[in-house]
Amino acid sequence: MEIKKITCIGAGYVGGPTMSVIAQKNPDIQVTVVDLNAQRIADWNQDDLSQLPVYEPGLDAVVAEARGRNLFFSTEVEKAIQEADMIFISVNTPTKTYGKGKGQAADLKFIELCARQIADVSTSSKIIVEKSTIPVRTAATIKNILDHTGKGVQFQVLSNPEFLAEGTAIRDLHHPDRILIGGENPEAIQALKKIYEAWVPSERIITTNLWSSELSKLVANAFLAQRVSSINSISELCEATGANVDEVANAIGQDSRIGSKFLKASVGFGGSCFQKDLLNLVYIARSYNLHAVADYWDQVIKINDHQKTRFAEKIIQTMYNTVNGKKIAFLGWAFKKDTNDTRESAAIYVADHLLEEQAQIAVYDPKVQDVQIYKDLDYLATRSLEENKSLLQVKTNPYDAAAGAHGLAILTEWDEFRDLDWGKIKTQMKKPAFIFDGRKLLDGKKLTEMGFVYYAIGE
Ligand code: NAD
Ligand code: UGA
Repeated sequence: MEIKKITCIGAGYVGGPTMSVIAQKNPDIQVTVVDLNAQRIADWNQDDLSQLPVYEPGLDAVVAEARGRNLFFSTEVEKAIQEADMIFISVNTPTKTYGKGKGQAADLKFIELCARQIADVSTSSKIIVEKSTIPVRTAATIKNILDHTGKGVQFQVLSNPEFLAEGTAIRDLHHPDRILIGGENPEAIQALKKIYEAWVPSERIITTNLWSSELSKLVANAFLAQRVSSINSISELCEATGANVDEVANAIGQDSRIGSKFLKASVGFGGSCFQKDLLNLVYIARSYNLHAVADYWDQVIKINDHQKTRFAEKIIQTMYNTVNGKKIAFLGWAFKKDTNDTRESAAIYVADHLLEEQAQIAVYDPKVQDVQIYKDLDYLATRSLEENKSLLQVKTNPYDAAAGAHGLAILTEWDEFRDLDWGKIKTQMKKPAFIFDGRKLLDGKKLTEMGFVYYAIGE
C-alpha cells in the first residue's frame, strides 16, 4: 500500500505541527491540512511566519521548508478527502457541555462528522488514522459509519495517538520517545509505520491492538497529570512542615524507579488535555461500573482544583485577608511557557477567584493577546463581559502590569520573567511588595534581600 497523498482534518495545535513534520520528513508525499475554520487556514498560509496560528519554537522553520513544496493548508475539505490515500483525523474532542456525560465524557460530534464526511465523499479505499485523543473503542464507531457507505470502498482504521507537549512540539515530533500505532490490518499498519520510519528508528515504533492504543493515550496523560497532582499535594504539606518541595522532589526523583521528570510543583496543571482526558477516563470507568477506579483518578483532578484555589486563597490571606480594590499584577496567562495556548490555564481560575473578591488585575503575557484573555474569563460566565473588562486590564509589558500593584503573581514560567529588572518593579509597586510565585521560577532569596515579601508554592 503506497501512500502518495495524506490529508489531515483539523489544523490545530496537533494537526498543524504534526503534519508539518510529516511533510518535512517525507518530501515525496503530498500533505494537505484542512479545516472548517477559514481564518485558521489563512493564518497557516500567511507569509509572516511569526504569526502562525500556533506558537511553537522551531515550527516556523519546518513550515518554511515544506509549505508550498509538499505541505498545503486548505479549506477544501471534500476535495482533500477524495484525493487522499490516508486521512488523519485531528479534530478537537472537548469535554461535553450538554446532555448525557456533560462535564465528563468526550464530545465526539466532530469525530463523527469527519467519519460521515469521509463516508459521503470517498470514491477510493483509504486508511483512516485517529490522531485525536478519543475514548477507548471509538474506532469501532468510526468503522461502523464508514462501512455503511454502500459504495464498496474499503476503509482501514488505525489508532495513532499523539504524545507531543505544547511548547516543545517540534522537538517531541522530531525525537519522539515512541510512536504508537494500533490496528488490525498489517498492511495498513505497515503503511503508516513507513511514514514515521522516514525519521524515527523502527524500534521506537510500537504496534498494538486498536483498544490498547486508544486507551494508552488516556492512561499516559492520566499518569502524567497524577505526578503533578502528587507533588502538588506534597507542596501543601511542605508549607505546613518547613520542608521544601523542590528538595523533596529532587530527593525522590533521584530514585531511578521514580525518576525526576514531571515533579515540578506548580499553581496547578492546565492545558487542553490533562483535565479533559482524566474526566473522560473517570467517565469510562464509571460506565463500566468501576467506581473505585473512577474515584481514584477523579482525585487527581480534585487536587488540581484545590491547588488553584489554595494559591488564590494564599494571595488573599497574605494581603491582610482582603484584595478588594487592590491591584495584582499577573505575569503569565498561558498554561505553560513557550505556547500561546491558554486552554484550562490555572491563571484563568486564579484570576476568577480574585475578581470575585473585587481585586483589580493587570495581566502581561508575552504570547497571549487581550482578546483571548477576556474570552477565557467570559467563558466561565461568572460575571458580565463589562465587569471583566473593568476589573482586569491587559498590558503589553511587565512593568506596566506591575506599576502601582500591591502584589504580583507568577502564573506561567516564561524564562523572560527571571531576567526582569526586579529593582525597577520594586520601586513601582506599593509596599509591602508581595510576590506570589506559582511556578517557583524566581530567586526567592535574592528577592527577599531586595525587600519583597516572597511566597512560593511548597516552601
Ligand atoms: P484544536 O482545537 O487546536 O484543533 C482542532 C481543529 O479541528 C480546529 O481548528 C477545528 O476548526 C477543526 N475541526 C473540527 N471539526 C472539523 C471538521 N469536521 N472538519 C474540519 N475541521 C474541523 O485541537 P488540538 O489541540 O489540535 O487537539 C486535537 C486533538 O488532539 C484532540 O483530540 C486532543 O485531545 C489531541 N491532542 C492534543 C494535544 C495538544 O497538545 N494540544 C496533544 C496530543 C493530543
Ligand atoms: C501533555 C502531555 O505532556 C503530552 O504528552 C500530551 O500529548 C498532551 O498533554 C496532550 O495530550 O495534549 P501539554 O498539556 O501540552 O502536554 O503540556 P505538559 O508539559 O504536559 O504540561 C501540562 C501542565 O502541567 C502545564 O500546565 C504544566 O505547567 C503542568 N506541569 C507539568 C506542572 O505543573 N509540573 C510539571 O512537573 C509538569
